[in-house]
Amino acid sequence: RLELRCERDGAGAELRLDAHPALAVSRAALLPPPGGPGDAAGQELPVESRPFASYGSALHIALPQAPRAGQLLTLLIDYEAGEGPGVCWLSPEQTAGKQKPYMYTQGQAVLNRSFFPCFDTPSVKFTYSATVKVPEGFTAVMSATTWEKQKDNTFVFKMSQPIPSYLIALVVGDIVSADVGPRSRVWAEPCLIEAAKKEYDGVIEEFLVVGEKLFGPYVWGRYDILFMPPSFPFGGMENPCLTFVTPCLLAGDRSLVDVIIHEISHSWFGNLVTNATWGEFWLNEGFTMYAQRRISTEVYGLPYTCLEAATGRALLRQHMDATGEEHPLNKLRVVIEPGLWGVNPDDTYNETPYEKGYCFVSYLAHLVGNQGKFDAFLQAYVNRFKFQSITADDTLGFFLEYFPELKEKGVDSIPGFEFDRWLNTPGWPPYLPDLSPGQQLMRPADELAELWAADALNMEAIEAVDITGWRTYQLVYFLDQVLQKSPLPEGNVTRLSKMYPKISKAQNAELRLRWCQIVLKNNLEAEYSKVKDFLHSQGKQKYTLPLYRAMWGGSEATRALAMETFSATAPQLHVNVQNYVKKILGLEGAE
Ligand code: BES
Ligand code: ZN
Repeated sequence: RLELRCERDGAGAELRLDAHPALAVSRAALLPPPGGPGDAAGQELPVESRPFASYGSALHIALPQAPRAGQLLTLLIDYEAGEGPGVCWLSPEQTAGKQKPYMYTQGQAVLNRSFFPCFDTPSVKFTYSATVKVPEGFTAVMSATTWEKQKDNTFVFKMSQPIPSYLIALVVGDIVSADVGPRSRVWAEPCLIEAAKKEYDGVIEEFLVVGEKLFGPYVWGRYDILFMPPSFPFGGMENPCLTFVTPCLLAGDRSLVDVIIHEISHSWFGNLVTNATWGEFWLNEGFTMYAQRRISTEVYGLPYTCLEAATGRALLRQHMDATGEEHPLNKLRVVIEPGLWGVNPDDTYNETPYEKGYCFVSYLAHLVGNQGKFDAFLQAYVNRFKFQSITADDTLGFFLEYFPELKEKGVDSIPGFEFDRWLNTPGWPPYLPDLSPGQQLMRPADELAELWAADALNMEAIEAVDITGWRTYQLVYFLDQVLQKSPLPEGNVTRLSKMYPKISKAQNAELRLRWCQIVLKNNLEAEYSKVKDFLHSQGKQKYTLPLYRAMWGGSEATRALAMETFSATAPQLHVNVQNYVKKILGLEGAE
């Protein structure tokens, strides 16, 4: 049931909604105004589904007459959904508990059009409610303000703040919850709930409080976290009130909590102030990376946060090396033409909007030159545009309005750093924030990587370095340096593997990813099984694609490993991830 208000006269007598060939629409009707006369079943309307793009179709609904500005329309659409890319069905074997099936939806970027017909664009915001009936023994949760269990396994949800379509999300499974803070609980399958509670008990509230201090009120009521099955394709997804995360975060030592801080940061940047088009996805992710690192700096200090940011910069370097700096997706503003020849908005998910976006926001802060003033700007920005969808022009216009002295100086057109160049030129960021406060943590890792890259290993010097006390991100940074210097001289990686079981036998997903990349780049056949095991254990896109790229770019043996691993794991991967892997492996049917 869609309740619409006509914004302008002259729009014509047709309503067009986003939909998907997998969505079977059986009937559309116009309901009489509430309280007024007319058939309660409504007046049936002609509906037609037409091709639109590779990622969806257009639903054309003929209205009896063109609505006038201000007119309210209530439409009832009967449809069935389930087979499309937005709705994921998992068999019991694909869950942690292996007992019961599971279903979840993932809307971002343009998948929810296969879940329900809607204006599937981040430029439109609305409230929603849902009634979900599930089989006995299952629980439903949604990204909503209120959650109420009624009789007959029926759950009722209401989201009382306006949100864009991509933030509607539903999970049905054998899940339970445990409190971890005054406005937070974790949700997980019963066999994971203890670990989930232990990972984040008592730590979430501090991030929320710091976020509120920096960016203004947290408007969403609760902040809960749902641990997803291993095939969930993202580290985290900022569904309002209920962040979805990969179970890889259950590292046992809170070391991957930066993902939670990231998703919390979306509560202001993305969920409150939203990019109006997916072509400016950096407005969501670049500002969120900046906000994440501001919170991290307050909680964990500058050195640690700079270390984490340095690992982010390494990801941007790897991404640009893999795609070529001049690739059109390596611009902050991507042109997305509608329809069949346009870019699929989901394809803009790469390191550029995140880390180049972070550099641009850091550059704006650098222009201001004072952290407190820039923090105040961010808070004013959220307040100015909350519950709206905006473009980069709105953001930058507001920035110059907020700092008239900078506008006066023409900071938007400093040669080499023009705002226009930031937005529209692909390639490496023209400005990089200073990460030298992280040197105290990075230098030992840089030096150790240097030692391991030598032709003749200086074991005495290597043994003198004690890595037992290193934080996870220090090890990650070390491994990124080793990877950059790889292939290492013959035999070095084998010795490294023996010397540091803490790394080569790690259970932590960030360490496993790097170790697998090193194994592949150095043709360490003895450990190929670790690549296979890691890819069998989880399906996160940012772990899966780099490993398939490395295998495909390697030897006959690694190519065979890629094929073998993909044929065994494909059914449990998210369909988008499946398609990206197919593309890497040159398999038929890839989009
Ligand atoms: N909103 C994204 C995930 C996403 C992006 C889903 C594009 C679909 C399309 C989420 O906030 C995110 O950025 N997750 C990161 C976390 C990281 C940057 C800490 C991830 O999954 O890796
Ligand atoms: Zn994000």
